[in-house]
Amino acid sequence: ELKDNTVIVVLGASGDLAKKKTYPALFNLYKDGLLPKDVHVVGYARTKMDDAEYHKRITSYIKGTEDPETAKKLEEFKGLASYISGGYEDAPSFQNLNNHIEKIESSYEDKERNRLFYLALPPSVFIPVAQHLKEECYSKGGKNRIIIEKPFGKDLESSRQLLGALKRYWSENETFRIDHYLGKEMVKNLLVLRFANVALSAGWDKNSISNVQITFKEPFGTEGRGGYFDEFGIIRDVLQNHLLQVLSILTMERPVSFSAEDIRDEKVKVLRAIPPIERNDTLLGQYVAANGKPGYLDDDTVPHNSVCPTFAATTLWIHNPRWEGVPFILKAGKALNEAKVEIRIQYKDVTQGIFKDISRNELVIRIQPSEAVYLKLNTKLPGLNMRAVTTEMDLTYKRRFADAKIHEAYESLILDALKGDHSNFVRDDELDVAWKIFTPILHWIDGKNGPSPKPVPYPYGSRGPKELDAFIAKYGYVRTETGYAWPVTHVS
Ligand code: BG6
Repeated sequence: ELKDNTVIVVLGASGDLAKKKTYPALFNLYKDGLLPKDVHVVGYARTKMDDAEYHKRITSYIKGTEDPETAKKLEEFKGLASYISGGYEDAPSFQNLNNHIEKIESSYEDKERNRLFYLALPPSVFIPVAQHLKEECYSKGGKNRIIIEKPFGKDLESSRQLLGALKRYWSENETFRIDHYLGKEMVKNLLVLRFANVALSAGWDKNSISNVQITFKEPFGTEGRGGYFDEFGIIRDVLQNHLLQVLSILTMERPVSFSAEDIRDEKVKVLRAIPPIERNDTLLGQYVAANGKPGYLDDDTVPHNSVCPTFAATTLWIHNPRWEGVPFILKAGKALNEAKVEIRIQYKDVTQGIFKDISRNELVIRIQPSEAVYLKLNTKLPGLNMRAVTTEMDLTYKRRFADAKIHEAYESLILDALKGDHSNFVRDDELDVAWKIFTPILHWIDGKNGPSPKPVPYPYGSRGPKELDAFIAKYGYVRTETGYAWPVTHVS
């Protein structure tokens, strides 16, 4: 439940993440009356700036202010948002922050004092900040919670080191590790889709399903973030966290309840049945200049000979009775032809005999943009004939839930953290097993035990490496008859 008397402290308040995600999410929650009563927001960072400059920065990504009601709320929000500058590695700075928080709290009527610390910071300062917050800024009379974001290390070993160091100061129960995909509407819907529908759950296994793809496509490159990206690559940036999270919810067994631990127990269980990814189940790509757009290596912040993948397709296998033999293809790429994140479940061929050349059923769950669930289904073409055509059962949110408000992932997650609900945050053992699956291929790509593999080139704005179609076909994916296209264009 939501606690009153809460101060939210955003560390790294002048950075990109805070500006683009954290503050807009906090403001939207505030505007909708969803934050605790008497909430205050304190920004903290090294940059020296006055309140006016701070307010300008934190509101630069807030939308909808042409509406007078929103503009009024924004003024109110600024009134409860203050700023303190200080270092990340020295105790006196944090004592100063603590004094500021205490001054705010002195206006609270009763004694309870809750604090939520949001670390929108680079990983190099995670540990000192976590330590100083615990030692100097920990509330003695209320809940203390800390939110952190990836990167949680670079491989199994560094992740264990980081988590171990943080655990010296913050317990698992106080820690909220964000994977913002868990806050997305359609990802949260997976539990309902899967477990509230006998029609779907009955065929949810190797007997009915041929292969599954989970795809992430972005139409822009790493422009401006090349320096960060080159150290991590697309696998650490998207596959090991966002896509693997989707996979685990898609494939786990039914949890005993909706409690955070019951759900996360099942996720960990299915992830433990996945062996480390094999090199030959991997296709790596890097985009090159095309159509007037720069290639990855044209970025000045990227080493000229970098072999960092900006595209990866990897196939995972789950060794349990439900999924043995079903390939799960995770693929993600920057600088592709479109923005799209979707799950595509392709069913097996119908028994041949009365039909031939009939399309396979496919269940597509579109996470973004424009949430949708549709099932490709064969139907008799109406008329005096007996011809089957592929059509679809279509649940497009914009049509079916035209008036619904879909909150941003960060809004949903910050609210969960304020309520103390861990369901949509990454547990320590979950992170550990996720790294186990990916660490061997990451070490191979990093050149830890021999020369690094060279990613294949693909043009900026294309569908990805030309090798991709053959890669997917190798795992049994069959492209639908030509001429079928889901008629989605008129509902965007
Ligand atoms: C982040 C990655 O975690 O997710 C980015 O670091 C990526 O590279 C982003 O662009 C995608 O998030 P979304 O919500 O826009 O799909």
